[in-house]
Amino acid sequence: MHHKIKTIAFKCLSLLPKKIGNNIYHFLQKRMDKTSIKRKIELTKESYQKLLEVFNAIEIGLDGKKIVEIGSGWLPIMPYFLKYFSKCQEVLTYDIREHYSSVKISQFNKIFFSEFMNQLIPEIADKRYNLPAGIKYYPSTDFINVPLPENSVDLIVSRFVLEHISFEDLLNIHIAAKKCLKKNGAIAHLIGASDHRAHAAHTDKSLSLYDFLKYSQKEWERIQTRFDYHNRLRMPQYEEIFKKAGFSIAYKFYSCAQNNDLFLKEFKKVNIHSDYKQFNVDEISACLLVFGLKREKR
Ligand SMILES: C[S@@+](CC[C@H](N)C(=O)[O-])C[C@H]1O[C@@H](n2cnc3c(N)ncnc32)[C@H](O)[C@@H]1O
Repeated sequence: MHHKIKTIAFKCLSLLPKKIGNNIYHFLQKRMDKTSIKRKIELTKESYQKLLEVFNAIEIGLDGKKIVEIGSGWLPIMPYFLKYFSKCQEVLTYDIREHYSSVKISQFNKIFFSEFMNQLIPEIADKRYNLPAGIKYYPSTDFINVPLPENSVDLIVSRFVLEHISFEDLLNIHIAAKKCLKKNGAIAHLIGASDHRAHAAHTDKSLSLYDFLKYSQKEWERIQTRFDYHNRLRMPQYEEIFKKAGFSIAYKFYSCAQNNDLFLKEFKKVNIHSDYKQFNVDEISACLLVFGLKREKR
């Protein structure tokens, strides 16, 4: 779909009362999502492998660990990988919205357990969402307000979530994360720092992956809505948040214009706004960001 049509649709939805707008958005997203469950599993597997790279690099094992996912999305693919491949003891997954559905998860269960677990379907512990024991879903929960006890969690992960949260909320989320993490706890984040309108459903090729960086903050506020919110933060701004909240950056990987032909081509198409002039080309063009964070001493 062309990005301008999408923007107009989101603008119309944002004029409706919040609950009605959210429900229609949820319905439309469900209907318009044409990516198969198998493809979603493949894509999430790539991200899972990136998370493993992070934990390997910072010498943290996952076996038997209690792990939290921020931003569950539509299917528990990452929690299943963590539980069944990495043998995490328990995965708690939080989402500010409620996207899981028992019907979709039972379709997913059939595919996942026949493909990876020799048809060995575990007992379903959570009948509401068809989730097996060891995976707990907390919908309609903003991670900032999660009442997890202090020192109770080993690891925290997120995949393509942080870019949808404001600077201030990210800081508060990491302050909350630091409290609930154990002393040797760690975090791994995958962040998509490119303009999501450009690869929305991979159908709109008219926009550069950096298009949104040509706007001032005021102009960008006029374009985006709460349905397609993107903070546009660049790599050093994430690092600032992590350090402010009391984490050290133990692992960092990024793909930028210098080391990726596609990103370079996309970057050259855009006249970057002067708001970003304090950053160098690498810092601005870093699109896929992967961070491993360790808790500094309290
Ligand atoms: C782009 S989706 C990614 C979902 C999933 N991690 C994946 O990779 O498919 C981002 C998700 O983060 C959730 N989210 C955004 N802000 C959040 C917050 N403060 N706390 C918990 N979840 C949040 C959104 O509702 C959405 O489901």
